[in-house]
Amino acid sequence: MQPLEYTPEIAEATAPIFAKLEHQYKEEHWRTLAPYIYEINRLKAEKNAVILAHNYMTPDIFYGVGDVVGDSLMLAQQAAASDADIIVQCGVHFMAETSKILCPEKKVLMPDMNAGCSLSESITGADVIALKKEYPGVPVVTYVNTSADVKAESDVCCTSSNALKIIKALEAQGHKRIIMTPDKFLAKNVANEMRDGGSDVEIIIWDGACMVHERFTPEDVRRVREEHKDAFVLAHPECPPEVMAEADFSGSTAQMDTYIKEHKPAKAVLMTECSMGSNLAAANPSVQMLGTCQMCPHMKRISLPKILKCLQTEQPEITLDPETAKRARKAVDKMLELS
Ligand code: 13P
Ligand code: SF4
Repeated sequence: MQPLEYTPEIAEATAPIFAKLEHQYKEEHWRTLAPYIYEINRLKAEKNAVILAHNYMTPDIFYGVGDVVGDSLMLAQQAAASDADIIVQCGVHFMAETSKILCPEKKVLMPDMNAGCSLSESITGADVIALKKEYPGVPVVTYVNTSADVKAESDVCCTSSNALKIIKALEAQGHKRIIMTPDKFLAKNVANEMRDGGSDVEIIIWDGACMVHERFTPEDVRRVREEHKDAFVLAHPECPPEVMAEADFSGSTAQMDTYIKEHKPAKAVLMTECSMGSNLAAANPSVQMLGTCQMCPHMKRISLPKILKCLQTEQPEITLDPETAKRARKAVDKMLELS
């Protein structure tokens, strides 16, 4: 693709976005990004398309072209509510599949089909069938970070923002044992919270992990605290329990966002993907974001040129076997109902 030209018209149209991002991008870098932002937004309006951008998208995507931004749960809810003809999913493959499950009549586009997820790759539909055979009658709660095949075999989905709520709802229905797949750390963290709340529910765990969050260690937290005694530490529940034990706050990416906006700590450390800190820094200039982050190589596959190409060609498109999509939808709907 030929680089696009930075014209005075584009400079004027994108000036409010640059004003927000001038601490993130130098002017000469911005001149290469702005024409893509302009053209993507023009095409989006022409084609009645909506861009769903996860909190881990880089600021040029997040603030430049995202119509709906948020965590996995928010993006799924907004996909379900959208009246656009086309959804462009700026995130990873399982998120685009979730949108297609919820909106089978819409065209769902994914700027890079290779944007996967280590959690999603850790389990198959056949694994869930085997688990159900091993534990008959035990409900299977599956993290949204999975393929449609895995969701189709599960009873209910969850995200990091509603996992605890969903486990509590199943316990209230009388379940004493619950299978949680595929993230062992999310499952262990939820099991710890349940136990701390006095519950004796047994959580059966699958051995998957997020390749980004599993890298954080309690020493990372201690090191930051040694240098910055007043640092407020927020950790994503995909982190190991030993990291969560050192943190001041635990929550999904949207819950971290809300916490920072409402409390404005002087210094914050996010034990999560790097772009989350950049996006929060742009929205909360009074908060000093201390850099202890990890990059997700899958999320970073999404770029403005790929988004533009995908809108122009309306490819690559997510397609799902209708029967699998229908069965997966039951688990996603159950989650939306319980959360
Ligand atoms: P949430 O945005 O739901 O917190 O999930 C984080 C994540 O790892 C998505 O890939
Ligand atoms: Fe998957 Fe982790 Fe990347 Fe999220 S951050 S897409 S959970 S590998």
